Amino acid sequence: MKILEDMILERGIAVNEDILKVDSFVNHQVDPELMKNIGDEFAEHFKGQGITKVATIESSGIAPALMTALALNVPMLILKKQPSKILNQDLYQTVVTSYTKGTSYELTLSKNFISENDHVLIIDDFLANGEAATGAIRLIRKAHATIAGVGILIEKSFQPGYEKLTEQGIDVYSLARIAKLGEGVIEFVKD
Ligand code: G4P
Ligand code: NA
Ligand code: NA
Repeated sequence: MKILEDMILERGIAVNEDILKVDSFVNHQVDPELMKNIGDEFAEHFKGQGITKVATIESSGIAPALMTALALNVPMLILKKQPSKILNQDLYQTVVTSYTKGTSYELTLSKNFISENDHVLIIDDFLANGEAATGAIRLIRKAHATIAGVGILIEKSFQPGYEKLTEQGIDVYSLARIAKLGEGVIEFVKD
């Protein structure tokens, strides 16, 4: 998606070989017009598949997921992170480990907001190792709901997440695919 790639080049900061900072338009300050365009793009790509809900993981996925849900005219689900494992009968729960942050959390979803009749599109800001997306898929499948696909703003294609998901037959649509990062270096995958 050209407008996202242009914004990454203009306003993104490659901190090192692994991390791209996009605090000025995605992770801290949020660009509403960009998010609107992103929502429309995801809706166009995933339309006509009977999607009933758009799910994201708090917090940075919420803005693009909301715009996607608006464009598809369905509710948005926020999968919530809990620090510790408190068993709760009313929740589906699964543990997610983040390699980037070196932490684990319990991903949770209320049984009130998902059923076997749901067909869910997952939206998130970054795809790195794929642990968050894999956890989201695991959680949604606990409700016997089905996965329409995964929409990602920024895929770090040099990390294993994309392959991990596509190997399972998941339709992954990434709006910007980064081949290489380095101090002051941002290179996209050539298509
Ligand atoms: P994975 O899900 O693909 O395995 O990724 P990982 O656990 O490694 O990522 C953990 C957190 O770090 C996620 O945010 C993810 O969005 C973020 N992240 C990963 N790579 C980058 C990067 O290059 N730049 C930035 N800015 N963030 C990155 P989170 O902990 O879920 O928090 P939130 O931002 O959604 O609140
Ligand atoms: Na995220
Ligand atoms: Na993030």
